[in-house]
Amino acid sequence: AFVVGENCIKCKYTDCVAVCPVDAFFEGPNFLAIDPVICIDCGLCEPECPATAIFQEDKLPPGQEGFVALNAELVKLWPNIREVKPAPADADAWNGVADKLQHLEY
Ligand code: SF4
Ligand code: F3S
Repeated sequence: AFVVGENCIKCKYTDCVAVCPVDAFFEGPNFLAIDPVICIDCGLCEPECPATAIFQEDKLPPGQEGFVALNAELVKLWPNIREVKPAPADADAWNGVADKLQHLEY
């Protein structure tokens, strides 16, 4: 499955949602997660993310391996998202900031 990585936190542009053919995204307060059971590995979402936050599960940046399990857990807590919505007003300022995992809200 594809996985949403750390740089989505506090960016949450939701462009990814527009292209997913199987509605595999689930929405938290400041992050989206992909359900690995629903994802069909089409790869369409990866280039759509303005934050370059989506990766194949075996191609995550070093240190982000834990996002595989994190995505799988968070989708159980959060509602499905099928429509693009406006990003947070300060999304661009957070794009690329290091160590954002501490800011993840559940
Ligand atoms: Fe959806 Fe395809 Fe991205 Fe999986 S890889 S989350 S199926 S767009
Ligand atoms: Fe997050 Fe990128 Fe989607 S920032 S909400 S994974 S478009």
